[in-house]
Amino acid sequence: MEYCVTGKVLGFLYFFLLLLLQQQCSALEVTAPSSQSSLIGRDVLLPCTFRVDNPPVNPKFLALLWHFGDKEILRYDNKGKVSSPRLSIDEKLILEGNASLSLSNVTISDRGTYRCSVIYSPNTQHKEIRLHIHAVPEVVVAKRILLKNQGTSLQCSVTDFYPQSITVTWLRNGKLLANSALGPLQRNADGTFRQNSTLTLTPSDTLNNPEIVCQVQHESLPTPRQDGYKVKYGVPPSVQVYSAKINGRPEQVLVCEASQFQPEPVQIKWILNGKIAEDPRKSKDGGYKKGSYYLINPTSGSQEGNISCVVEHETLLHPITETLQLRQEDDGAKYSAGNIAGAIFLTMLLTVAGITAGLWFLIYKKKYFQRFRVSHIHRSQMLDGEKVTLYCVASDCPKDPHVIWTVEENDRKKMTENESQAEGEGNMLLGQEFSVRTDRTETDGRHNVTSSLSFTPDLLKHKKSVFCKFVCDGRAKEEKLDCSFILLKPKDSMKFSLSESGEVLSCLTLREFYPRDIQIRWSCGVGHYQQLESNETFTLNPNCTFNTESKCIVPGHLFKDPGFKVRVTWNHQSNDGEEPREFSATDPEFPWHPQMGEIINPDTLIHSKEGKFQCKIWGYFPDALEVKWLRREAGGQELFSVCPSEKYKIPEMEQKREADGTFSCTVSLIVSVSAITEQGAEFICRVRHPSLGEPLETSTGALSVRGVPVVTNITQKDRQIIMEIDQFYPQNIEITWYKAVGKQKDYWMISDVQNKLYPNSDDSYRLTSICEGMDLVDKMNPSDFYFTSLVQHQTLNSPMKIEFLRERGVYYLLSEGQKLNPLPKC
Ligand SMILES: *[C@@H]1O[C@H](CO)[C@@H](O)[C@H](O)[C@H]1NC(C)=O
Ligand SMILES: *[C@@H]1O[C@H](CO)[C@@H](O)[C@H](O)[C@H]1NC(C)=O
Ligand SMILES: *[C@@H]1O[C@H](CO)[C@@H](O)[C@H](O)[C@H]1NC(C)=O
Ligand SMILES: *[C@@H]1O[C@H](CO)[C@@H](O)[C@H](O)[C@H]1NC(C)=O
Repeated sequence: MEYCVTGKVLGFLYFFLLLLLQQQCSALEVTAPSSQSSLIGRDVLLPCTFRVDNPPVNPKFLALLWHFGDKEILRYDNKGKVSSPRLSIDEKLILEGNASLSLSNVTISDRGTYRCSVIYSPNTQHKEIRLHIHAVPEVVVAKRILLKNQGTSLQCSVTDFYPQSITVTWLRNGKLLANSALGPLQRNADGTFRQNSTLTLTPSDTLNNPEIVCQVQHESLPTPRQDGYKVKYGVPPSVQVYSAKINGRPEQVLVCEASQFQPEPVQIKWILNGKIAEDPRKSKDGGYKKGSYYLINPTSGSQEGNISCVVEHETLLHPITETLQLRQEDDGAKYSAGNIAGAIFLTMLLTVAGITAGLWFLIYKKKYFQRFRVSHIHRSQMLDGEKVTLYCVASDCPKDPHVIWTVEENDRKKMTENESQAEGEGNMLLGQEFSVRTDRTETDGRHNVTSSLSFTPDLLKHKKSVFCKFVCDGRAKEEKLDCSFILLKPKDSMKFSLSESGEVLSCLTLREFYPRDIQIRWSCGVGHYQQLESNETFTLNPNCTFNTESKCIVPGHLFKDPGFKVRVTWNHQSNDGEEPREFSATDPEFPWHPQMGEIINPDTLIHSKEGKFQCKIWGYFPDALEVKWLRREAGGQELFSVCPSEKYKIPEMEQKREADGTFSCTVSLIVSVSAITEQGAEFICRVRHPSLGEPLETSTGALSVRGVPVVTNITQKDRQIIMEIDQFYPQNIEITWYKAVGKQKDYWMISDVQNKLYPNSDDSYRLTSICEGMDLVDKMNPSDFYFTSLVQHQTLNSPMKIEFLRERGVYYLLSEGQKLNPLPKC
């Protein structure tokens, strides 16, 4: 029995323990998802919430921990919060059971396991969250122009993705293409990856301009990302490099010529110190050609070594590189012998390696001339002034070639410049107008010739073409250059005016340019420019150059923003690119900066009166004027703003529009003057306007205040007249008393006068003048007595005069001879 009972008791105990444990466990419950994912650079929330059995949560028992791997990254308990920079937790929400962690600007290295631990004493629970990071790939196909009927390859670059696994497929008009290969996988500094895919195309793959697409699948993408284009065909450039030396100058000129290519954009670079490019011109065969010059200056020390011309074009997978070997020439004396004014002496330096000409000649008669070639005519940009030098190079002629320059003039008469047949120096000056120089070199039986033609182009005459013809053993090759090489740069000037309706008329004048073709564009804005409409008128000058006037209307109110700019650019063949001009209200050339006059001060500033200061401002536009009055205390430096108050009145300024469209106004400040505050002080009028970088200011200068004496009180006491004079400034004042007996004449001065000066609290002065009107002798005299008091002060134009009468022992005030009231007794 006992056993049985014991067993029951044990069973009960076990049950209770279980209950107790369960209760304790459920006293805290933490919830979090097992994984979370985010894109790189975004902010991510790692959710973690908890619940306690009997809320509210008591902060005393609560602690919160976040771990990343083994590292504690955030701790929150009754002592506060410890955290790292990119992490944050909303502390207000913690007691409501929200312990979610936000992580900003997620990077690849944030990938991993996070643990949210909640301790609610004595219970602890935690949850783990795996954070996955994704980076979305960029997909770009290099949209090369292809060569017709030629196999080629295309490249698709996939960049900035994570994780590393991607699938790249190529489509031709939507159909899968097989021949592609992934390049090596490369890792970026931020942990993301990049990889290229190269597609190999057969000639038939590119037939009929198919659309070729590179498609990428990646974990971060719900649908594949792609880039592609419709195949276009072009012609690759053929590249030739020439080199020549100039007589009398240390420089050497190199020409790199790309021709026959299509479409137009081509890049020619010199790999050494710098680059000089020339405008491309279209040639007869529809292909473009472009030349680039490079000047080598031996003084810069770079004349030894190799120089390469690198030509890049859309049809080329790799750029074409032509390398020249530069040698120090020590035969300068030979070249400097024939120094003819205005002529340029060009020496071929180009040496051509390869099989000897003789071999070519013997084996293939046809190929005799095959290597003989003539460069395009190039324009030298090296000479200053108006003179132009054209040059042309022939190379690889089996015999010494002969050169003929022809300049076509307007009257269709052709003028031919034949070079001298004589051997030797091989140069000659023909006529005044033109000069030709030719230089020859021979290497391995191949002749190279550089010929130059210099002249001052005249627009009235040379409007057609120039030809350069080389005859090599009876076979001729000719090059042609349009006289559009005559380029005259426009001279520009700008003018502004205001319309009646408050618009700014901007007028750009370009003078004496050639040819007429010019594009002028206007735009305006703050930071970002918007196109403006404009109109142009052209005029032809007697010397065949052109002038143009381009007018553009800009709403005037836009100039209220000091950042607002108007931009005009013109594109003319004579410039390398667009020539820009920009202007804003803050430019010194802006015609409507405000002008400010002197401050007009009142003649005298009278104590306890109002004083008005005025200042005229004119000539400004737009009407965005800001006026501020400032004050500087006597002997002080600091400036204080003057605000409207009882002491200061600032009347609203009235702006007026003048006949020329500008604005003007008069601003004023009215001050209740007090000697104590205004004496020595200064008022400053400060003007701001969008056209002013620094505000304009004018000052009143140190002020001086006057107080006009006022008779405030006159009383009598026995024989005395007591007169009080108040509010005068400065303190110098003169009171004189006069007396006459019987009649109002024969006044004499009274000496028995007592003056007492008192300073007032407002810095003005007060004076009591006591006049002993009657002496002992006068008392016996029964006649009437007349008195006059004269007050003199610098604020009074003429002395103030006060008259009295003493009649039967009483003083009366007199006004124009009339007796007024008796003076009160004091
Ligand atoms: C927890 O707080 C975060 C802000 O820190 C909030 O975005 C989230 O919705 C909250 N979760 C719950 C369940 O209230
Ligand atoms: C995000 O992190 C990257 C890499 O650490 C950094 O270059 C970038 O400036 C950060 N962006 C912001 C908005 O903090
Ligand atoms: C992909 O090709 C481009 C262009 O040829 C090259 O600049 C880049 O380095 C290549 N990238 C990789 C990852 O190979
Ligand atoms: C120039 O190129 C030639 C031939 O390619 C080479 O032998 C020579 O070393 C190069 N010279 C310099 C200075 O690089």
